[in-house]
Amino acid sequence: MRIPKIRSGSWTRQFALSLGVLTAAAVLLVWSTAGKTAPQASACTTCKPLKPADEQRCAQLEERLSRPARFVARGQAQLDKYEPLMQEFMEKLCYRAWKHDTTARDTGPYTATLVDGQLKAQAYNQHAVSRVWYSTLMFEWMERYRPTDESKAPSNQPAPPNGAMMVKEMWTPPLARWAGTCFDCVRPDGTGAVFWTRDDITFSTGWFGSWYGPGWAPDWPAGASNPLTGSGQGSSQFCVNCHAATISA
Ligand code: HEC
Repeated sequence: MRIPKIRSGSWTRQFALSLGVLTAAAVLLVWSTAGKTAPQASACTTCKPLKPADEQRCAQLEERLSRPARFVARGQAQLDKYEPLMQEFMEKLCYRAWKHDTTARDTGPYTATLVDGQLKAQAYNQHAVSRVWYSTLMFEWMERYRPTDESKAPSNQPAPPNGAMMVKEMWTPPLARWAGTCFDCVRPDGTGAVFWTRDDITFSTGWFGSWYGPGWAPDWPAGASNPLTGSGQGSSQFCVNCHAATISA
């Protein structure tokens, strides 16, 4: 989004502008916290939804990816074999056969600040604009243990079963940028997507986790600069910055 540069003027003009900006920011904040979503239902009638590229191959990939334990050799998950399958699964949009959030949403506020006469926008989100897709096992677990009325949730909940999977697609924030977009008709943008498989026998944190998007490369063998892994064993080093503290996710 291009932010227009505000020209300097008299004090009153500056004040009026600041007030306007503050009001706009407040409106934006109220709007975003009201939980509204970009109007998109009508847009979906004028474009072609992107579906899984090859249903048969997708079913095969899902079956393999849901059992990471089969990729363990000499006590190690063979990520050089597992991760390319994930790449193909994501590239073919195989997860788009699953149930999913009705639409994409912001995962944090988006603010505008006036600094030296110039508006600076900042997204304070965890996961950009997100829409999550749930495999059948994952969805069944959620229906049972995450009812709309949480007071009705069973006690002593088990963690999601091994083999449950999730994919979260992402787009550059804020959601307002995407007004009119039918998310079914577009791929995630450069922000990419994340992929999760539950397996508490193979992985120490109970999950295989990965970012996937433009520029993604398998984490094994490691790159020349030996970076933190954004894909791999135990939810990967990057994801556990935030996701390590929970049992279920
Ligand atoms: C900066 C902290 C942070 C990092 C790093 C992070 N996450 Fe998240 N993640 C969150 C938060 C907070 C949420 C909940 C956001 C919301 O629902 O608004 C979330 C939500 C999710 C969800 C959706 C869960 C659900 O039940 O809907 C998935 C899937 C996910 N993260 C996977 C990952 C993966 C895989 C990685 C690593 C590539 C990762 N995350 C890195 C903070 C983080």
